[in-house]
Amino acid sequence: MSMPRFRMAVRSAAVSVTPLLTKLHNDSATPLPLLRHVADAMAADMRAGLAVEGGSDLKMILSYVDSLPSGNEEGLFYALDLGGTNFRVLRVQLGGKQERVIATEFDQVSIPKELMFGTSEQLFDFIASGLAKFAQKEGNKFHLPTGTKREIGFTFSFPVKQTSIDSGILIKWTKGFSVSGTAGKDVVACLNEAMERQGLDMRVSALVNDAVGTLAGARYWDDDVMVAVILGTGTNACYVERADAIPKLQGQVSSSGRTIINTEWGAFSDGLPLTEFDRDMDAASINPGEQIFEKTISGMYLGEIVRRVLVKMAEADALFGESVPEKLSTPFALRTPDICAMQQDISDDLQDVGSILYNVAGVESNLSARKIVVDVCDTIVKRGGRLAGAGIVGILQKMEEDSKGLIFGKRTVVAMDGGLYANYPQYRRYLQEAVTELLGTEISKNVVIELTKDGSGIGAALLAAANSHFTLNFAS
Ligand code: GLC
Repeated sequence: MSMPRFRMAVRSAAVSVTPLLTKLHNDSATPLPLLRHVADAMAADMRAGLAVEGGSDLKMILSYVDSLPSGNEEGLFYALDLGGTNFRVLRVQLGGKQERVIATEFDQVSIPKELMFGTSEQLFDFIASGLAKFAQKEGNKFHLPTGTKREIGFTFSFPVKQTSIDSGILIKWTKGFSVSGTAGKDVVACLNEAMERQGLDMRVSALVNDAVGTLAGARYWDDDVMVAVILGTGTNACYVERADAIPKLQGQVSSSGRTIINTEWGAFSDGLPLTEFDRDMDAASINPGEQIFEKTISGMYLGEIVRRVLVKMAEADALFGESVPEKLSTPFALRTPDICAMQQDISDDLQDVGSILYNVAGVESNLSARKIVVDVCDTIVKRGGRLAGAGIVGILQKMEEDSKGLIFGKRTVVAMDGGLYANYPQYRRYLQEAVTELLGTEISKNVVIELTKDGSGIGAALLAAANSHFTLNFAS
């Protein structure tokens, strides 16, 4: 591999970069009063979104999931998960209270970039053909009564206006997807048509958001789960709400008196500490002005924010020598897993940081530059984790205000899923610290924030079982 031309020009940059770094620290700081404001604003936005359709940045979508898994669910179900970077298919055999999950099998494929910008048909054909291949592998292992269709829980992790448990209209794409012809359509109908084109005779019994699937899946094992949060490519949260706290339901009551609300909190924006780098990234995105919380705290964007800071430091202060490497100037060249890997380097000379910078961004660095890079990563990740923590507290706070003691006065579990939360220890720590700071040590002992075992997949299958045409094993 040939070395970049600027190799000899690398020089110490610690002093000249300091003002930029200091400004970054200041602009992205998350002191307690700011976190408090974010939590309060989240709670207020939730109320406004529950009051009337379009009442706030938060859509507060009704999930039509009115009762939670009981453990009695039985049978063979499929789950299909279209979320961000990957597409997953899962087969699960549920064995009722005694046996619970008897067996699971799954396949995962990454979504080709071009499909994220293609047509709706292309995307759904790709999904249906993945499902068909996977379904074929079932062979003769399971015998369902003749005429029985395989049933699917479809996790579709984008904002959908649900019209029933098994139908919903895509409001808009997020997380870098820009597929033509889906917005405004029923995504279950899109999938059904694609399955027909594949000659696949399966039925979608439940359409769920990934946060909702996560809540259902976690609740299957633990009755104290009240909230689920996704921190992956994108971010979202959902929670169990009382029907009488949802004015926009206008008297429609759910059978159990409760329902899961999909907040779509990625669209939250009130009082966030944004920097020039966030604003520039937003302006260059395919959805400017939208999903600001998501752009500040989720996996798709953290690496890109860091990259933008580094480009500025390279240009203004020659952080990596006289020229700015071309690779570093490429949007999204630095990904969140890269900044995570750099933050795990605890060696004195930051060797790993150096090789990651060189391999992914074409950057030659000396030790003082590497230290600055790690500091930048930490600053952006700390802000993200702490703001996510404040968002969680906002949700709990709203629930507590309505239920007086039923949330903070007992064990309450927040089920977490998503690669960012699962794989980034510093992010997790910052999130937990913010929650503890906001709630105080006593109350935060009751709030258990934990990674789910099987993510949203089993949850979607459980909801398919609950809404199955053949078995009705669902109880609240
Ligand atoms: C985006 C989607 C949302 C999803 C989240 C996490 O914010 O709009 O529906 O739950 O990403 O995948």
